[in-house]
Amino acid sequence: MRKRLKNLQTRRMKKSKTFELKPFGKLSRGYLHHSTYFINIQHGAIRSSKTISSIVRWLKFIKTHHYDNFLMTGNTQTSLYRNVLKPMMAILDGLGISYDFRENKYIEIEGNICWLMGFNHEGMAGRIPGVTLGGWYADEVNTYPKTLVDLALDRLSEENSQAFWTLNPDNPYHYIYSEYIENEEKKSNEMVKVWNYTIWDNPNLSEQYIERTIARYPKGTLNYKRKILGLAAVAEGVIYSKFTEGLNTFDHTCPEYEDIKYDKYVLSTDYGPASVSVVGLFGIIKKLDGNEYHLLAEFYYDVNDPKNNGVQLSDKELVDGAIKLLTYHGKILKLAKWYTPHDAASLRAEIKKHKYRGKPIPQKPYTPDVLNDIQEIHTLFANSRFKISKECVNSIAQAQTYAWDEKARNQGEEKPLKTKNNDHCPDMWRAAILGTRSIVDNPFTESEDTYESYQME
Ligand SMILES: Nc1ncnc2c1ncn2[C@@H]1O[C@H](COP(=O)(O)OP(=O)(O)OP(=O)(O)O)[C@@H](O)[C@H]1O
Ligand SMILES: [Mg+2]
Repeated sequence: MRKRLKNLQTRRMKKSKTFELKPFGKLSRGYLHHSTYFINIQHGAIRSSKTISSIVRWLKFIKTHHYDNFLMTGNTQTSLYRNVLKPMMAILDGLGISYDFRENKYIEIEGNICWLMGFNHEGMAGRIPGVTLGGWYADEVNTYPKTLVDLALDRLSEENSQAFWTLNPDNPYHYIYSEYIENEEKKSNEMVKVWNYTIWDNPNLSEQYIERTIARYPKGTLNYKRKILGLAAVAEGVIYSKFTEGLNTFDHTCPEYEDIKYDKYVLSTDYGPASVSVVGLFGIIKKLDGNEYHLLAEFYYDVNDPKNNGVQLSDKELVDGAIKLLTYHGKILKLAKWYTPHDAASLRAEIKKHKYRGKPIPQKPYTPDVLNDIQEIHTLFANSRFKISKECVNSIAQAQTYAWDEKARNQGEEKPLKTKNNDHCPDMWRAAILGTRSIVDNPFTESEDTYESYQME
């Protein structure tokens, strides 16, 4: 497809405030002149001019590229609009360049179409324009599933097609670091070029703003490393440092996950009648080289959540909530086992009173082996064998905040920190993962059930 005639009828939406471009800092100037690689990545500190310089580069790129179809993506359409399109239109207005912006569809600038997409879940794969793309602008690229990044790169088949990515610092184990930013092979064969910003790289920020920001994020903190120095970092003491959103989470509506046939479903519990109780529904895929565990849904009750007015959950309500999980997006699941904490006798007594699909509920107590369990789960995260559905917001949050008790550590004891709300979900996961394994390893562990009922069905 050749470029369309430039005298197309163009239409502006509401005129945005114009943006007065001022001189960039040295790093951005280098980027503007030398971002000629296949993938050009700007990452680093907050407010460091990654976006403005990427927009200027992008406008020049689409204007001079021989092709007329391009892709612009953000985490969502809204964040793409807020972070990129709004300042881009203000810059265009300032330059007196007309454009035609069709919300959530495309923006056409001098005959060049930029398709607009939110890229935060794999379900968008089928919607990537079925055309060759001359270029791809990706905002917050670290928030996209890996499959979408690969698919969009596949589309850049035009000669001299290029990608321009921006991101703020993330967990160093994120695939964007291992596969691109830190990938020496790709960098040395000129596939990838990286520009890393600190807050001081933007001369258009006032001294006052920089000082105020540093005061908010003091030296030595995770935020200082990420927001001021612009470096990838994990919070010191975080237990599941390898947990990465995107790699260890999934969207159940994606065909890839919707159609999974699980070998076994189990429930797992952390029980705290006076604080937080949580039950998780796990789907387990049996594999010879190691099972995969997917946390599909969670039932989470926090007595201290203001909406619960300090009311405790009864054991019966907990059992009812757990049984509801077993109707999963319209499918009624077969329950292989419900794991309960070893010290939750009253809950077990309540479970015994209930039936599921006309039969007694198969249940089993689990006694944790804290350090060993953590080590096993850590490895599963690292190998992407434990994934959490995006619907399980509490588990996703706690995967990132479950931390070592540093005080105890300094006294030579290794144990997780007990804070109000960071360990309930990690405690809940353990039995579903380790419990199902020990069954296979050791059929004669104490139990009120028969060995046969533990086998993978
Ligand atoms: N060339 C420029 N001319 C005028 N102002 C600029 C320029 N570059 C950056 N700025 C100013 O600095 C601010 C931050 O720039 P930008 O939004 O590009 O940073 P960023 O690195 O993308 O920040 P974040 O990580 O928060 O998204 C802009 O809102 C703008 O006010
Ligand atoms: Mg930005």
